[in-house]
Amino acid sequence: MCKVRQSLQLTMALLKPDVIANPIVATEIKETILRNGFFFVQSRYLRLNRQKAEEFYQEHKGRFFYNRLVSFMSSGPISAHILVRDDAIRHWRQLMGPTKVFKTVYECPNSLRGRFGLTDTRNSMHGSDSEPTAEREIAFFFPEFDIARWYAKDGEYFL
Ligand code: PPS
Repeated sequence: MCKVRQSLQLTMALLKPDVIANPIVATEIKETILRNGFFFVQSRYLRLNRQKAEEFYQEHKGRFFYNRLVSFMSSGPISAHILVRDDAIRHWRQLMGPTKVFKTVYECPNSLRGRFGLTDTRNSMHGSDSEPTAEREIAFFFPEFDIARWYAKDGEYFL
């Protein structure tokens, strides 16, 4: 039986400082991503300064956890990844599991956050929640990446 080729979608994944501090966990997460049908389109290892972390999380400004979130995300190196597969946004969020770790460890213990999340702040990874968000986040971390051109060519993107 042959499968019909489905159209590809890009999403943005971040591995947070708690993961990057532990190379064994980081490797296990990247292998799990590959085993789940994703490819890494581009990757970048970096550290956000506080101002850039505030900019990235500006939609949460004013929430009780904002300061904690921004402090944590600028506390050490992270890695940013453009991932691709069919329905990538939904699949990546499903693989990560819910944001709130206390809920995740009971409800989705086999998800990545269920396995590696420590708290609601140190919850290991981030994923875009919609196509417009993915576009904004990819542009934030990979300003040189031409997302419109990538979609126009359905991944046949040449330098
Ligand atoms: S909400 O309430 O549904 O809007 O929040 P959510 O989309 O689940 O989370 C948005 C990001 O905020 C982080 N977050 C927290 N950080 C610190 N402390 C607490 N209590 C907390 N609750 C949520 C959460 O990890 C999300 O970060 P990203 O990087 O987007 O996953």
